[in-house]
Amino acid sequence: MNPARHLVLVGPMGAGKTSIGRCLAQHFGLAFVDSDQEIERRTGATIPTVFECEGERGFRARERGVIREIIAGPPAVIATGGGAVLDPGNRGLLAGKGFVVHLRAGVSDQLERLVRDRSRPLLASGDREATLLRLAAEREPLYEEVSDLDFDTHQLPAADAARRLAAMLESQWQRDTPARRTEQAT
Ligand code: S3P
Repeated sequence: MNPARHLVLVGPMGAGKTSIGRCLAQHFGLAFVDSDQEIERRTGATIPTVFECEGERGFRARERGVIREIIAGPPAVIATGGGAVLDPGNRGLLAGKGFVVHLRAGVSDQLERLVRDRSRPLLASGDREATLLRLAAEREPLYEEVSDLDFDTHQLPAADAARRLAAMLESQWQRDTPARRTEQAT
């Protein structure tokens, strides 16, 4: 049992962080927060527009800011962008304050799930498969570094993945709520 206040989902694009995260939030009766959606809400712009106007550097700075705020906020299921783990500060916050689940997806699953997607700037040009392989090589060790649990989403629809994952979490994630801390103190 690993006590943590948030449930954090990390993993590559197309792993299902947002759809699985929504189901898990419902299951655990928690708020759901998606770092990309938070950036879009705050800027009033889509992620491709943020990349276009501010570059990846600007996007990463915004991502750092929202992750800091979300982590400081009320307990939630948090879906992070696939590149959030690149920043050492983000990794420290996510691992320090969250029970972190690495949602795995192979490149063939990603290609299939993202075939019609036009909202990922990193996949907008060039060979998608080569890009995904390169990103996986860079990032897999970082997902591993921060995660408490690995979950393979291969060929699982989001609702099924969420059901199985929720069952595993019941025995592995000890929700660290203010009520529990009071209980322990008395
Ligand atoms: C990114 C993943 C995206 C989004 C942005 C950059 C990445 O989020 O944050 O396009 O660097 O892998 P998802 O993982 O939710 O697709």
